[in-house]
Amino acid sequence: MRPVTVETLRLFLHILAATIWVGGQITLAALIPALRAAGTDVPMAAANAFNRVAWPAFGILVLTGIWNVEAEGDKGVAYQHTLLLKYTLVVSSGFTAFMHARVASRKAMGVFGALTGLTALAALFVGIMLAE
Ligand code: HEM
Repeated sequence: MRPVTVETLRLFLHILAATIWVGGQITLAALIPALRAAGTDVPMAAANAFNRVAWPAFGILVLTGIWNVEAEGDKGVAYQHTLLLKYTLVVSSGFTAFMHARVASRKAMGVFGALTGLTALAALFVGIMLAE
């Protein structure tokens, strides 16, 4: 049996938070048609409930992300460039999620919602590139 190390805990928390931020968005998007059929206010109630776990998960991603950077150290120019791309995607994902919850028009809400999902998925992909 391989030992449970601090690294195990660090990556477990980072990936767990990523499953909530990324997987939660995909699941909520898939549920929207059924939620709409249940009542006009139901999608907003579900989105608010998701936000109560999504933003703490985002916070944990940032904290464990900084821990990852510290623990992994400098692995050269290509790694630094990949990390910079990751930072850009994470900030974009957080910003578009913030806007998604505040814009008034359904069109703007849809655009920011889609951008939040796409940048979250891209951050996940680039995360794997960093871990390889
Ligand atoms: C939307 C937010 C984020 C998502 C979805 C995400 C996702 C991931 C995933 C899936 C991995 C691969 C873990 C593995 O295979 O071991 C990873 C690794 C990593 N992430 Fe994130 N992450 C996010 C935010 C951040 C932030 C904010 C930082 C830095 C401040 C960060 C820094 C890192 C580093 C350095 C690694 C490599 C760890 C290693 O080599 O063991 N991540 N991330």
